[in-house]
Amino acid sequence: MTANSKDGDLRERARRVIPNGMYGHESTARLPEGYPQFFASGEGARIRDVDGAEYIDWMCAYGPNLLGYGQPDVLAAVEAQQRRGDTLTGPGPVMVELAEAMVDMVSHADWAMFCKNGGDATSMAMVTARAHRGRRKILVGTGAYHGASPWNTPVKVGVTEEDRAHLIQFEEGDLDSLADAARRAGDDFAGLFVTPYRMRTFMDQTEPDAEFARGARRICDEAGALLIVDDVRSGLRVARDCSWETVGVRPDLSCWGKVIGNGQPISALLGADIAREAAGKIFVTGSFWFSAAPMAGALETLRIVRETDCLERLTAIGEALRAGLAAQSEAFGFGLRQTGPAALPMVLFEDDPDFRLGYAWCAAALRAGAYLSPYHNMFSNAAMTEADVTRTLEATGAAFEELRRTRESLLPPPQLAPRA
Ligand SMILES: Cc1ncc(COP(=O)(O)O)c(C=O)c1O
Repeated sequence: MTANSKDGDLRERARRVIPNGMYGHESTARLPEGYPQFFASGEGARIRDVDGAEYIDWMCAYGPNLLGYGQPDVLAAVEAQQRRGDTLTGPGPVMVELAEAMVDMVSHADWAMFCKNGGDATSMAMVTARAHRGRRKILVGTGAYHGASPWNTPVKVGVTEEDRAHLIQFEEGDLDSLADAARRAGDDFAGLFVTPYRMRTFMDQTEPDAEFARGARRICDEAGALLIVDDVRSGLRVARDCSWETVGVRPDLSCWGKVIGNGQPISALLGADIAREAAGKIFVTGSFWFSAAPMAGALETLRIVRETDCLERLTAIGEALRAGLAAQSEAFGFGLRQTGPAALPMVLFEDDPDFRLGYAWCAAALRAGAYLSPYHNMFSNAAMTEADVTRTLEATGAAFEELRRTRESLLPPPQLAPRA
């Protein structure tokens, strides 16, 4: 944003009172020039920045917006519960109702525990896996993201080797690599974390892989270790169940967050009976984990997911975007790689090793009203309409047009230069 803007003023003020002005994945530090840092409002499929510009938002708050910002039924359920009581000395009946709803919906689940962020759920899964048989080793995919606690953060500043001492890495989707990691864990193998498919920044995504999933299940069963599917990002965009249900494999634990309250702060660890005793022994809690209003929002979100065709719609919207971008890129003479499930689309340019094309294209689309990401998978939501896809494609069409004119003069994005 330019200096004479509300966004610019807020950035300036933020730099004084917030380290670096912003932190974590919602910092615009790695986004192209022009991306706003601060937003004033969101409604349905759109967000409005503090300077009044409106965008069709394909990031959906990095996932949580499943049904549309401010979805009225979810909002009404949250507000009604807020009036009755939210953060009290103990949970409300809604906690039991929500646990019942999640257990009914997710095939492998016999019980549920609630927390706030996806990272709470993954940390809780790790501790449960270790408590299950008193073992220590946790297998994780190289580069897979499971949250930002010391044991799993991708940035090692302020983290000790001891924090990660019992992690063993394997290559996602590679059964030989997984089997080797399991051998190295030996009889100390507590649990295996998988994301339902490879979902990494700056890389092509994959889709759930039945052979790998079955192999992972077998390896865990042979070792007596717990299989943990991290469905925090993909949950309810791939299936109305755990994402690996689509390939017929059931985990012992699954981690949920982001969408389950359509933006309300709530996440969950679900488990099968095999892990119930361990989950009952660990000590996990938080002052806001039992707040009733986000649970009421989640209960309503799950009802809508169950009773409407929202999942089919957001998939169809993702497919329409994908088809439109494929046609445009061909017409303008650019190669695009579009990967991942349609509701979590990743768009990368061919022959773009330093991402200069992707960055320039996204910056131009943003100026025309579409908020896209040049390096992260995006998300569709059920409030998006065909007209939103058409409007997005107008923006991306203008962006391709601009890219065709400017491609020879583009420079690599400075924000991707290696840090000293
Ligand atoms: C696969 C996966 N697991 C865990 C997390 C952590 O969730 P949260 O940011 O809510 O802690 C994320 C967040 O993006 C994620 O994508």
